[in-house]
Formats: sequence, structure tokens, C-alpha cells
Amino acid sequence: MTVVGVIGAGMVGSSTAMRIGEAHLASRIGIVDVREGVARAMALDIGQALPSLGSDARVVAGWEGIEGAAVVVMTAGLPRGPGQSRADLLADNGRIVVDCCRQIRDRAPDSVVIVVTNPLDEMTSLAQRVLGFPATRVIGMAGTLDSARFRAFIAERLGVAPTSVVALTLGSHGETMVPVPRLCTVDGKPLPELLPAAEIEALVQRTRDGGAEIVRLLERGSAWWAPSAAILDLVRAIVCDERSVHPVCAMCRGQFGIRNTYVGVPARLGRAGVVEIVDPGLKPDEVAALRLAAEQVAARVADLGGVLGDDADERTSAPEAAEAQLRVGVRDLAYASRVRAAARRELARRGQLHRLEEVVQAALRRTGA
Ligand SMILES: NC(=O)c1ccc[n+]([C@@H]2O[C@H](COP(=O)([O-])OP(=O)(O)OC[C@H]3O[C@@H](n4cnc5c(N)ncnc54)[C@H](O)[C@@H]3O)[C@@H](O)[C@H]2O)c1
Repeated sequence: MTVVGVIGAGMVGSSTAMRIGEAHLASRIGIVDVREGVARAMALDIGQALPSLGSDARVVAGWEGIEGAAVVVMTAGLPRGPGQSRADLLADNGRIVVDCCRQIRDRAPDSVVIVVTNPLDEMTSLAQRVLGFPATRVIGMAGTLDSARFRAFIAERLGVAPTSVVALTLGSHGETMVPVPRLCTVDGKPLPELLPAAEIEALVQRTRDGGAEIVRLLERGSAWWAPSAAILDLVRAIVCDERSVHPVCAMCRGQFGIRNTYVGVPARLGRAGVVEIVDPGLKPDEVAALRLAAEQVAARVADLGGVLGDDADERTSAPEAAEAQLRVGVRDLAYASRVRAAARRELARRGQLHRLEEVVQAALRRTGA
């Protein structure tokens, strides 16, 4: 029996649970939400849809539904609203991730956890420290979605089938996303041979803003169809022990010169989680961009009360001690988050948003936060 847990029965969580059932990837799907009625409603609705689609998967609401899960997908948390950055969600979602990971740790201690909650890189780091699982069993989903968006925009621009496009984005989920156009192909041809650099850059920028474009149009909430499709790819790779390579937020332990930091890299996934981090043959300038993204993730993780940026090895860290530290850290998140929001507003007014990280870090250093 394969159990897959989905935490958060909102748009991303419920569409993910539905896809997993439809794809026959689990015999039981556990679905959990702080709004218990919503989780129960989704379990009923999805459970009543699956037989029509030829699936016998059982859908169970509540924490007991995830007992012994092989994979847990963490989607609980607030989505972005118009004008909000992913970083603005830091404090609220940090608390939610801490609470949910305590339950996951106890109920599904052997699971591979896929974090989806934003801000993605920070929440993945936070989840791993609370869970106390080996970092190979905690990954974040972002690069798979960003790469799919890049792929769709390239296909639209060139008027080709999206399935004939291979696209790769690495780095962080957001402003420091690292696209690798050199390794993007259309029917096997490298993208730089098909489009001028300026046009590629415009597609890259649209990809970076791909989530925000949807948030603006929706006016309430953020995307779920493409995110749940990207999550499904990762769940399938793990449950089926595929050993296929996906761009995910994974812990680098010296690869690309990055130490003990979660960042978007190509990773081979199997039943045990990350089997290996794969170098797709990055050139020095691409490695430099990836390292810069990792440095910025590390700086933002340091916002989490300074507890997450250390070199502690998860095999020797006591989960309870890490969690106690995190509870202190999470209180500081509210402050860091307010500083970031104020800096964002002021810099947007001055047209200097590119200085956001520098200004936030300087402000936090000044106040010792
Ligand atoms: N990584 C990505 O690429 C990506 C893509 C899309 C969305 N997201 C993120 O995923 C998260 C969920 O997005 P959504 O559109 O499903 O939002 P949503 O509001 O539709 O659903 C979130 C659900 O989480 C639940 N929740 C809140 N606190 C909880 C707790 N303590 N325990 C259990 N459940 C709790 C809410 O009740 C709600 O049902 C957001 O943080 C969003 O930014 C990430």
C-alpha cells in the first residue's frame, strides 16, 4: 500500500490530491487542513470523483490519513495577494510550516517531504530543520514549475508545440531564478540559435514574473493547475523510484561550490528522495549565477531568527532543540517580514526594487535582528 499525504486542502493541495488519485500513484491519499470541514469536503469530493476515472484510491481526511506516508506534499499556508511578494508570506507561513512539520515528523517519519508553501526556499530550509530528516528527504517544488512556465512561453513565442521544448531554470524561486537558455532546446536545437538574446531575456523575465501575472489576474489567490502538475511529476518520480532528473530546491553539500544551502538544482529523484545532484554541464558564468542565488537564499534563511543558516549537520541535530530555537526564530519573522514589506514599498516608489535584498539585509543588521 502506498500512502501519499497532502497538507493543505486549498487550491494547490486539493488539485494535487486529485491528480495523484487520477494517476494511480497511491492506494490511500491523506488530506489535512486546519479547516477540518474543508479537508473532509475535499476527501469526499475527490473520493467520489476517482471511481469515475477508474481509480480505487481511498481519500482520508485528517492527520491519521497520512500515517506511514511514503511522500508528503506540504501546501498549507497563505497564497500571495496582488502586490505581495513571496517573501511577504514569511512570518505567517513560517508558523504554519513549523506546526505541520511536527505532525509530519511524528506520523510519517520515513516520508520524503515536498515543500510547496512560499516563500519556497526559506520554507524548505525551515521544514528540514523542524523535521530533522536527512536533507535528501526534504525538497522544495519551484524549478519544475518555473521550467514549465519558461517552456510554455518559448513555445508560444516560436509557435511550436510546448512538448517539443526542453527548458531549464535553476536558482531560487523568484527574483534570483537562474534560467539556463544554453541548455534549453526546441526540437533539439539550442534556444540561443533560434532567438536573439534580448528576446530570450524578455521570456526569462516573463517566467520570473509568471506567478505574479496570474496573481494579478485572479485578484485573490495564486496559480494551482501548473503547480499541481509540477508536484505530480515529483511525486511520480519518488513513488515509482524513477531516478529521473528534475529541477528542485535541494540541499547542496559542496556541489557547484555551494555548502549547506537549499537552492534550485537538477536532482535525480527516487524512492529515497534525492539520489544525487546532477551537474548538467554548467559554464562558469552559470555556476556564478547559481552561487549568487544560493548566497541570497542563505541570507534570507538567516532572516529566520539566525537559526537556519548554520552548518549544523541534520544527522546530529536534535529535532526538539532545533524546533525550540525555531519557535524563537519564528517570532522574529514577523519583524523581518515587516522590514522587507516597508523596504519593498519605498524602493518600488523610487524605482529601485533591484536594491531590495541589500537594503533589507542592511536594515536587519543595523537592528541586530
Ligand atoms: N512553490 C510553488 O511553486 C508554489 C506554487 C503555487 C502556490 N504556492 C504556495 O502554496 C501555498 C498554498 O497555495 P494555495 O493556492 O493552495 O492556497 P489556499 O489558500 O487555497 O490553500 C491553503 C490551505 O492551507 C490551509 N492551512 C492554513 N494553515 C494551516 C495549518 N496550520 N494546517 C493545515 N492547513 C492549513 C488553509 O486552510 C487553506 O485551505 C501558498 O503558500 C502558495 O504561495 C507555491
